[in-house]
Amino acid sequence: MLCFRLCTSLVLVTACLLTTSVSTERAITCDDNNNVQRLSCDIGVISVQAALYGRADRTTCSEGRPANQLVNTKCSQRGTVDVLKKRCDGKRVCEFNTNVVRTSDPCQGIYKYVETNYTCFPAIQIVACENSLAHLYCDEGQVIFVYGADYGRRDMTTCSYKRPASQIQNVHCLRPTNKVAESCNGKNSCTIRASNSVFGDPCGGTYKSLEVAYVCEYPLAPKGIH
Ligand SMILES: *[C@@H]1O[C@H](CO)[C@@H](O)[C@H](O)[C@H]1NC(C)=O
Repeated sequence: MLCFRLCTSLVLVTACLLTTSVSTERAITCDDNNNVQRLSCDIGVISVQAALYGRADRTTCSEGRPANQLVNTKCSQRGTVDVLKKRCDGKRVCEFNTNVVRTSDPCQGIYKYVETNYTCFPAIQIVACENSLAHLYCDEGQVIFVYGADYGRRDMTTCSYKRPASQIQNVHCLRPTNKVAESCNGKNSCTIRASNSVFGDPCGGTYKSLEVAYVCEYPLAPKGIH
């Protein structure tokens, strides 16, 4: 964290990534209807490392719960990390209802919670509304590496200005795409149109956006930091 405070530009943040390990954040949310978990990064974008829906100890989310709801501490639902990676990776803020991970009941009668470990990956994040251009660029001598890109809609606020409700209400329309990486990786700058003609149409009638998270690096940067 010290590194992040000292770094004043994204270039330096990227440089710091090479020399410092990124700190891990943790979010824990008890499993009640309508409980929302919020992951957020002050700098960079979310990279989910591990996630649990279940119970791994007797103390977390134990307040007011009878002992028999806490006894199974080896309870975890498979696939939770994939659900959250798909939903949150590459975003600066990610909020979701615990309902989205509750796809099964891994241990009936046990009171469960969602625990997510994530890091803040120091990427540059850009959003282009449908039919406009996304511009990716790096300082001289550096090249683009795309960390994640999605075309679609996952909330009602992004690219919603003056749009009728019918075009912004489908927030479950999100298609990860590697087209941005294919056209931009290794280049110093890159322009790509956020349009159905480039990415296909994941949800007709919905006004969409292209979200891209990328880093700038020196072409000969050591492999293995991604
Ligand atoms: C999150 O990290 C902590 C500390 O390393 C670890 O004890 C815990 O098991 C991790 N949680 C998950 C869901 O992997």
